[in-house]
Amino acid sequence: MSFEITRTELVWPGKYDEDGKRREVERVSLPFQVIERVNESRATREAEKTRNPSLFDIWQGDSGETFEDGWRNKLIWGDNKLVMSSLLDQFAGKIDLIYIDPPFATGSDFSFSAPIGETDQVSVFKEQSLIEEKAYRDTWARGRDSYLDMLSDRLVLMRDLLSPGGTLYVHLDYRVDSHVRLLLDDIFGDKNLRNSIAWCYTGPSRVNRDFPDKHDTIWRYVRGEGHYFDPDAPEARLGYAKSLKAASKATGIYSARDEDLDYDEYDARGKLAEDWWSDVTPVGRIQTEDLKYPTQKPEKLLARIIASSCRPDGLVADFFGGSGTTAAVAEKLGRRWISSDLGRFAVHTTRKRLLGIEGCKPFEVLNLGKYERKYWAVVTFGEDLDNDGLVSLYEYVAFVLKLYGAQPATGLQHLHGRKGSAFIHVGAVDSPVTIDEIVACVDESVALKAKEVHVLGWEWEMGLHDPITDEAKKRGVKLVLRQIPREVMEAQAVDKGDVEFFELAYLDVEIVPTKKKYEVVAKLKNFVIPNPELVPDDVRSKIRKWSDYVDYWAVDWNFSDDTFMQGWVTYRTRKDRTLDLASDPHAYDAPGTYNVMVKVIDIFGNDTSKIIPVKVD
Ligand SMILES: C[S@@+](CC[C@H](N)C(=O)[O-])C[C@H]1O[C@@H](n2cnc3c(N)ncnc32)[C@H](O)[C@@H]1O
Repeated sequence: MSFEITRTELVWPGKYDEDGKRREVERVSLPFQVIERVNESRATREAEKTRNPSLFDIWQGDSGETFEDGWRNKLIWGDNKLVMSSLLDQFAGKIDLIYIDPPFATGSDFSFSAPIGETDQVSVFKEQSLIEEKAYRDTWARGRDSYLDMLSDRLVLMRDLLSPGGTLYVHLDYRVDSHVRLLLDDIFGDKNLRNSIAWCYTGPSRVNRDFPDKHDTIWRYVRGEGHYFDPDAPEARLGYAKSLKAASKATGIYSARDEDLDYDEYDARGKLAEDWWSDVTPVGRIQTEDLKYPTQKPEKLLARIIASSCRPDGLVADFFGGSGTTAAVAEKLGRRWISSDLGRFAVHTTRKRLLGIEGCKPFEVLNLGKYERKYWAVVTFGEDLDNDGLVSLYEYVAFVLKLYGAQPATGLQHLHGRKGSAFIHVGAVDSPVTIDEIVACVDESVALKAKEVHVLGWEWEMGLHDPITDEAKKRGVKLVLRQIPREVMEAQAVDKGDVEFFELAYLDVEIVPTKKKYEVVAKLKNFVIPNPELVPDDVRSKIRKWSDYVDYWAVDWNFSDDTFMQGWVTYRTRKDRTLDLASDPHAYDAPGTYNVMVKVIDIFGNDTSKIIPVKVD
């Protein structure tokens, strides 16, 4: 058989199916859950409360395109493939600018560093071990194909999200820039490549047998004709190397060209930056910006991109958001934004970064929650064979048990496995673990004369923690509640053994009335991470008191559905390491019973919440 090659294209294993057909990009649309609303005015918050509360506050996509119409910027926690395909319903053809800085390999960044407590001692929480590094390199050695597979699907989705006048910037280094350019040519058309930008920087290097790598490549593609570009945006312009005025005086050359030329104006306006940018310093050398997020990019870089390529009321997105540089710069330049990342530390870093921007407009934190998990379970463990709405339960439970280091147990009703002498129950993938469910596990353990039971869950019925463990203790059973971490859904994390099941943290909060009418303050009294053995030694050695584990805490004074409406917040910053343990006072308008919800985010990016009913009279 002979075949004719008719065009140049990049081919990698996985691009075509067995029949030689280009694999289609799957477009799954899942609903978003709003888990948190930040910086809303009090009036808006109160108005929201009067809506019909639902168990999960699903984002309906019914807000308008301006803040006046109810638009809120969006920080989304989840895998960007599902996030983007779920955004298509509302945003196909609506995003004006997308910037991405995809990691060299897939998956979130597990290692990160942060200061601990009031000191400025920085600890790296999860340094790659040699074995992990090797695993990473091995994956990569096999993995350029899967990298291209990963990215090509996502680039197709980005193209579909871009507006007709929209622009995409893809930030890469020498290892993959040429491959990705060919991918982009395929997806966007080579005529839509408008720039190959070289971001050049300098810095120390250990390389001395080659020239040190000191530039990145940023491909700039437009969606089609009529793209937006503002050559006059000040961020896109540079000062002349030599003042034109001075030059004209010295040589007379310029004055000969145009006598009416206003040199001061020319000098002030500068020239449009060329496609190599050497005036942007890397973050490591900008103390005021550095959040110690390993791959953080400088704001000046994003400012040039956003100011030149997104109209003033336009929408900017970054689907590999990291520390939130794109969102922060879009916020400062008054553009609307969407940022997503699958790492919890990335989402938390972005949330804090935005809160630190003066006048930051309202934004919401969303995820695909149980829908994403259910989708993952169906893809990983197979379809709902008995048609009862549950995914292949047995395999799901066996998988979680294995990651937890437990063996399956048969013939029991609620208990699924054993680990040493403890029995294990695995919570459903798509619903919270309920109090009844835990009581049933404790009952069964009592009947089996077991002394210890571990319940693993993704989400928990609110407020169940303390009384239920005490109750079990009275019945002679040690009850341990552990969180199934999101990393369970990341094949790479699982392969690397990066999955820890933390015990639910213990949080003690008091709501205290002040002398003023209907006024209260919230006080954080204690926060305990029950698995100190899972905390890396170097972090543990720097912890002096319980509050050192707390990075951020916030209060919703009137929690009424599943969305946390941030009413008061405090957090540590790089500059100010102190943390208030009492909130500002909050005055209610009227007497009544209110549910106060307090949310703590610890230094690992995990959150723990507690609801405290208060009677105000
Ligand atoms: C190179 S960093 C981006 C850094 C960012 N430009 C900044 O200035 O902070 C890449 C980010 O992509 C995230 N990521 C990797 N795979 C992802 C995926 N499938 N979905 C969403 N985020 C992903 C990682 O967690 C990481 O934070």
